[in-house]
Amino acid sequence: MGNRHDAELIERGSLCMVQSQEMNVTVKLGDRSYDIVIEPGALKKLPALMADCGLHARKGLVITDANVGALYATATGLSFPAATIPAGEESKSQATLFHLYDEAIRAGLDRKSIIVALGGGVVGDLGGYAAASFMRGLKYVQVPTSLLAMVDSAVGGKTGINLPQGKNLIGAFHQPSLVVCDLDVLKTLPPRELRAGLAEVIKYGIIYDAEFFAYIEANIDRALALDAEVMAHMVARSCAIKADVVSQDETETGLRAILNFGHTLGHAIEAVAGYGNYLHGEAIAIGMVFAVRLSGLPADQQARIETLFTRTGLPVKAPELKWDDLRRAMSVDKKSESGLPKFVLAKEIGRVEYGIPVDEAALAKAYTSLLASVPE
Ligand code: GLY
Repeated sequence: MGNRHDAELIERGSLCMVQSQEMNVTVKLGDRSYDIVIEPGALKKLPALMADCGLHARKGLVITDANVGALYATATGLSFPAATIPAGEESKSQATLFHLYDEAIRAGLDRKSIIVALGGGVVGDLGGYAAASFMRGLKYVQVPTSLLAMVDSAVGGKTGINLPQGKNLIGAFHQPSLVVCDLDVLKTLPPRELRAGLAEVIKYGIIYDAEFFAYIEANIDRALALDAEVMAHMVARSCAIKADVVSQDETETGLRAILNFGHTLGHAIEAVAGYGNYLHGEAIAIGMVFAVRLSGLPADQQARIETLFTRTGLPVKAPELKWDDLRRAMSVDKKSESGLPKFVLAKEIGRVEYGIPVDEAALAKAYTSLLASVPE
């Protein structure tokens, strides 16, 4: 698999008339290409950034949650009404989606209107799916306010809601027209959510870029202290890697599967534990350790990965959940074929393979090994 590890992945410049910033990234998808603006203070420039990209709708709707809306809804300077949903994974539901359609009708949206998703992953996935489905598709802007949303859920166009049977089982690919990451908002992020977001950042190092992994190892304490320079690099590099992968395989026919590293067990943990009990980043940290154990990486590389998760304050041990329940949940996972999950496995730090079937005994053994604190 041809991973590219050089600085050229960080696209400079911009598709729109957005003033070129050092850290901006472009997701290259032909006429659906879009910019990711990464800049402290970007939130208050949102109307200008949207105008620069030709997003001039007369009508629009800001979708946000109660926590984020209280802090930032007015800071955007947008004149659109806001639809505020309860914070938390439970809102990624059919009921909340239909509530948003009501709000869109009430706001008088038409096919030229714009949706702005202002919040974390739940708001982004749900708001994106509302935009994908309302009137067969409106343009939308992602304004992620959590680290996890900046480096993952706001980028790539996967939108959707959960069913009680599994995560993201209803959804659509619908790319945003612009993503705006204001690094200043990370200052109000609860520490647990910061750590959970760093799980996705670490994932990019493991799957794509050994040098970036080493950078994270060297700078994790500064990241946890929200050092501006370190956070800017971590967000920009993570977005650049995701942009590169999505640009090559938008709808996950191949390479894009590597972004799911650790997610098969991670999603099962979220579903079995009950949505909201584990943050997504916490569940996939355990899922990544599981995948690393399945991969049979040399002990020193396994230890580096697990030590980095531990230093970040992320869980690495098996949760108090029954393997049979988790295994059943894995069968519902979208990546499963005939109930058999396919895995992304690590060849070494910075390089993975995808679409790998693993036999039942090896799965159960790797899970049991998670009860131990050191790699077998
Ligand atoms: N929206 C998240 C993704 O496309 O991966």
